[in-house]
Amino acid sequence: MMQACRTLALLVFPLLSGFELCSASKILVISMVASPSHSIWCNKLAELLVNRGHTVTILDTHPSRKKLANLTTYIFEGAYTYREQLDYMDSMWNSPKYAIDFLFEANLLSCRYMLQSPAFKRFLSEHSNDKKPFDLIIHDITNCESFLGLVHFLGNPKLVLVTPFGECQALYVKGSQGHMVHSPFQLTHFSHPMSFDEKLKNLFYTLYNYYVYHKYVNTLDGYSKEIFGQSIPHVLEIGKSAAVALVNAHPILDGAKYYSPAIVHIPGFHIDEPKKLDEETQSFLDDAKHGAIYFSLGTNIKSSLMSKDRIMIFLNTFEKLKQRVLWKFENENIKNIPENVKISKWFSQNDVLAHLNIKLFITHNGLLSTQEAIHHGIPMISMPFFLDQHGLSKKLTKQGIAVALSYATLSEHSVQQAIEEVLTNISYTKEIKRLSKIFKDQPMKPKELALYWIEHVLKNEDHKYLQPPETFLSTFELIFFDLKTILGTILGLVIAFLACSCSNKKQIKLKQN
Ligand SMILES: *[C@@H]1O[C@H](CO)[C@@H](O)[C@H](O)[C@H]1NC(C)=O
Ligand SMILES: *[C@@H]1O[C@H](CO)[C@@H](O)[C@H](O)[C@H]1NC(C)=O
Repeated sequence: MMQACRTLALLVFPLLSGFELCSASKILVISMVASPSHSIWCNKLAELLVNRGHTVTILDTHPSRKKLANLTTYIFEGAYTYREQLDYMDSMWNSPKYAIDFLFEANLLSCRYMLQSPAFKRFLSEHSNDKKPFDLIIHDITNCESFLGLVHFLGNPKLVLVTPFGECQALYVKGSQGHMVHSPFQLTHFSHPMSFDEKLKNLFYTLYNYYVYHKYVNTLDGYSKEIFGQSIPHVLEIGKSAAVALVNAHPILDGAKYYSPAIVHIPGFHIDEPKKLDEETQSFLDDAKHGAIYFSLGTNIKSSLMSKDRIMIFLNTFEKLKQRVLWKFENENIKNIPENVKISKWFSQNDVLAHLNIKLFITHNGLLSTQEAIHHGIPMISMPFFLDQHGLSKKLTKQGIAVALSYATLSEHSVQQAIEEVLTNISYTKEIKRLSKIFKDQPMKPKELALYWIEHVLKNEDHKYLQPPETFLSTFELIFFDLKTILGTILGLVIAFLACSCSNKKQIKLKQN
């Protein structure tokens, strides 16, 4: 149960001081997605909650995040094992079916490893005697649903779902799956409005994903029962008991849709107020008289994974530019770097994109990077590699805020043309500045909104009022067994019966004649 209300020492947001203060609570964040971007995002959430005065424990896949008082981290070993034989550069990633299969296979593998990891065993033994060690559990619903078994193991505290990966599974769990049939599926290349052909393919991928997801989630439920006992509820049922899902979606990228009130959008949650860059990067950008280009392929796909000839294509093209180039490149062995190019293993990307001299972002279009580009109004060259990146790339080029570049057919000519197009045709910058204004103009900052909802759940016992009846229906029931279908079937049968008896009467008349 809730502790007595105590005033929180630290108020991170002056705006929030208008809210009734919530008691300092003990919160567990489960961040089990083996992708650095998920770990970064969930750690930002943990940090936010700690700064607000809560005591937070995070189960994480990635070492070396921020150390804070009142933040305890367990790092689960083995999460990234699936990557050992992975080729991000393979053109197979263009196929949505391949992407769906991969996503669930890789997740099963990394979940399995993490459930067996020494850190998890240590966490369980350290919390097995405590009846209810946490007031609230926050779970990244993108995958590894086995860990939802912890809700039961830890005495059924309140549950909030989150995902940095668009809407993904949150829609199934929180009762908004109905519209998935009508909206472009995340791993396809389709965007609104879809042609008839695209709608058919989209329906196929949506249903295929639904089928594979349920197979996968049943396997994960099996893992959960192995650890927490056969009598605990199915992991999806535990997921459905969550009060709200905080999802990283915005109509600009995800389309305008109907959502259950239990789905709350916090787009760009991870984007902080820009800070000053380190001295060297700051002066490199400050002195870029003709502007600068930022090039990064994110944290999964590294620039250094590109083939040698592709790396040379970029270096040769950059050398001919007036602009300066910051390139996130993860290997120091790169030679013959032109004077106008600065490489580093890591840049504080959000602060780089906020710099006024940045005119162009060459990106893989991971969702978090894409949102940062839109937030700061920087037009893009889009070179997607896998999962949702292809679909995002299509959307952005359709919206006129990015030029697409194909890694498979990369040449000095194609790179130079793409750069020239974005830098000389003002329409890309104009359009993304327009979208930036919309993206940033939210009634509450996404961080404040996330805090508001998490504390709303902590303060109130009941959250059933947020749950639409669809939460508790399967997609099959939702699509095929609604009232319309039943009434339509009855009407069809009546018409068929009338038609039959009419033709029978005619036949009888004919016989009489
Ligand atoms: C950590 O939590 C304790 C207990 O809630 C609190 O008294 C203390 O001020 C917190 N420390 C920090 C640095 O937030
Ligand atoms: C600039 O780009 C936009 C969007 O792709 C395009 O519609 C327009 O024709 C381009 N203008 C010129 C002068 O190339």
